[in-house]
Amino acid sequence: MQRVRCIAVIGGSAATLPYGFVAKEARAHATPWGEPSAPVHSGRLHGVPALYLARHGEPHTIAPHRINYRANLRALADLGASHVVALNTVGGIADAAAPGTLWIPDQLIDYTSGREGSYHDGVLLPLDHVEFAEPFDEGMREVLLAAAEGAGVPVQAHGVYGCTQGPRLETAAEIERLRRDGCDLVGMTAMPEAALARELGLRYAMLAMVVNRAAGRSAEPITMASVRAQSALCLEQAFGVLDRLAALAAAG
Ligand code: HPA
Repeated sequence: MQRVRCIAVIGGSAATLPYGFVAKEARAHATPWGEPSAPVHSGRLHGVPALYLARHGEPHTIAPHRINYRANLRALADLGASHVVALNTVGGIADAAAPGTLWIPDQLIDYTSGREGSYHDGVLLPLDHVEFAEPFDEGMREVLLAAAEGAGVPVQAHGVYGCTQGPRLETAAEIERLRRDGCDLVGMTAMPEAALARELGLRYAMLAMVVNRAAGRSAEPITMASVRAQSALCLEQAFGVLDRLAALAAAG
């Protein structure tokens, strides 16, 4: 297993500090790209150094397209993160992506626009083109899969995440198009987060929680009340995986 020096968890909608996270402090951390969404909590998970950052702020107020992804990832790297687990709530497009299922995607397609998506854009740092054929770190995905197995939490080991701009949900035709493109899941925040993690050399993988059927994939309308209820259920399972992940890291 890869040596996990410090696990950073980026919490998405509805996420809170993971169970068992022994928090030492929460600190604002300025970067050359501005301030992260919230103070970064630092502490330990199973004795392993750990960080937690609420992607949408604390309280949850920052829309997906307004998140300062560059500041978020830079702050985690500055504070010592070696590995990043992104917690993301998603809509399910594939038949197998029923609400309540957890996925560790291995691919993504970016449908966003206008987001600041690189450190190496020739402004503060020289232009560069990062390798991104495999957008998630394979070693980190394997560690997450082992953790899920150890925790007894069923997960889908492969899947394609389509990242839309939000904050509105998609039209049924947009979801049909994503399906034709091969997307299994839809969310609003994996990009540019995953690409920035790659630029910084952080080992980044996602634990995606399906909280609704994507637009047009169910007779029921998508309501925030049902999304919230499903998120709480998924989060229980996701925290079980994180707990196991930290135990594996502590042992290995
Ligand atoms: N679409 C986009 N993002 C989401 C969804 C969705 O249906 N559910 C949770 N995040």
